[in-house]
Amino acid sequence: MTTKWWQNSVVYQIYPRSFNDSNQDGVGDIPGIIQKLDYLSDLGIDVIWLSPVYASPMKDNGYDISDYENIAEVFGTMEDMDQLIAEGKKRGISIIMDLVINHSSDQHPWFQESRRSKDNPKRDFYIWQDPREDGGPPNNLRAVFGGSCWEYDERTGQYYFHSFAKEQPDLNWENPELREHLYKMVRWWLDKGIGGFRIDAITFIKKQPFYDDFTPDGPDGLQEVAPNQPGVGEFLQELKRETFDHYDIFTVAEAPGVEPEEIPDFVGEDGHFDMLIRFDHVDIDIGPHGRWFPTKDWKLQDFKQAITNAQKATESDGWMANYLENHDQPRAISRFIPQEDQSEFTGKMLATTYFFLKGTPYIYQGQEIGMLNTDFQSIDELDDISSIDQYEAALRHGHTKEDAFRWISHRSRDNARTPMHWNATYASGFSEAAPWLKVSRDYEEINVAEAESRPDSLFQYYKYLIYLRHNSSYSSVLISGDYEEQFANHKQVFVYTRTLENERVIILANFTNEEAELTFDTHLGTWIFGNLDSTCVNGKEVKLRPYETAVVEWPK
Ligand code: GLC
Repeated sequence: MTTKWWQNSVVYQIYPRSFNDSNQDGVGDIPGIIQKLDYLSDLGIDVIWLSPVYASPMKDNGYDISDYENIAEVFGTMEDMDQLIAEGKKRGISIIMDLVINHSSDQHPWFQESRRSKDNPKRDFYIWQDPREDGGPPNNLRAVFGGSCWEYDERTGQYYFHSFAKEQPDLNWENPELREHLYKMVRWWLDKGIGGFRIDAITFIKKQPFYDDFTPDGPDGLQEVAPNQPGVGEFLQELKRETFDHYDIFTVAEAPGVEPEEIPDFVGEDGHFDMLIRFDHVDIDIGPHGRWFPTKDWKLQDFKQAITNAQKATESDGWMANYLENHDQPRAISRFIPQEDQSEFTGKMLATTYFFLKGTPYIYQGQEIGMLNTDFQSIDELDDISSIDQYEAALRHGHTKEDAFRWISHRSRDNARTPMHWNATYASGFSEAAPWLKVSRDYEEINVAEAESRPDSLFQYYKYLIYLRHNSSYSSVLISGDYEEQFANHKQVFVYTRTLENERVIILANFTNEEAELTFDTHLGTWIFGNLDSTCVNGKEVKLRPYETAVVEWPK
């Protein structure tokens, strides 16, 4: 099977605010990233997904853009950005930008114009509706970050629509002129030589009916806004035709609401994008209607099922973005492993589990050294707009402050956003100034300098996983092989095979602190890699010690 360059790649996500601060103002920046390119090159990654660095008032840390063709001052300049692209290229690393085009900031000149008057030429770039007869909002949809999706604007006596925060008004994709502006901007970035885009919340661009009442799903009388409405595909096809199709790049879509059977429309042969980010496997501890409270109990089966569904949906066609962490998720070890067993060792097990799924693996900054959730002490230490909304919602639902804080701080997006741990010096070597968000307490033990110095570290383990995918005799089967889950009903293990013609490799992982025994019909072969040693395999028998993982040949 011939593969595309991005199918052979490993992606590393950078949250610029928290990666590395070069000018000592407490906020990470683009020159700070350039300083660490050699580190990333040593790790072996091929692509950086850069969370937004565009001009922004930072209500949602850059996911609220006020100028798509400028860089936020706090992150640097466009020259810095060009240099990052060029320096990346020298090391064989391409940069993909975060494309946030469901909404802009309310400070974007388009919105400033749009809100000025009903007959302003930019009025229709956003979604404006009259109040209902009683003066209320057109409908009762709830925004992702809480409250009504509709914000009243006194100047013109109408409401505007926002799927996220009120400072993130949704762009009106029904307007062809707006779409043309967006396509031009996308081409402008692609012409700079970037490797593609991670496309934010893109299934929200098609809206639900404006004047329908929806059945409330909470005490606020609102119903959560629903993405992936009928007709979204037409916009996405046009976007692709007008922009991406003309470049050797890849696109990875954050596409909430896409059902497994719709995956081919999104990333199949003529799909809208090249790769899909799905949520099922990371949403397993989230309650109904996107609630983080109380933290939902989950079973290994839920996790396995979610992954297998996506793998099966891309069996013949299509490609997944495989991940355990990103800037919206807590740290994987803290989430998937019971507290007493959270360690580098269990981190190796998790890493192996997702790295060899069919698709492109994504590593989020700090994941490669096993960063854990942060020891937040009170709600005042959290910055994330979504965490604060969820906390308030939990109180509204009648939960105590203590419970609300425990659940929210466990799930908070800020767990992933605390500064990267580079070394054991002040502020974990991230900055000489006071960092914008607290540094996690454990940085003296868990940091890059320490991990680089020790041959058995999680960091070295990730390097080896990347090597196995990139340059080993198993690369083809690990990249192109068919996925098949094994022992699907087993309560302790997650096991799958990758098969390409006569080659077969099995990935085994024990998710519990008890031994797990598996019996196969035929003999397993050479042990390739794992977090212990080859003694777990004995002919047709496999005995996985607590949290053991192994990659093993399984001759056909
Ligand atoms: C996406 C981003 C998230 C952001 C939201 C609104 O889900 O990943 O960080 O807050 O979109 O842009």
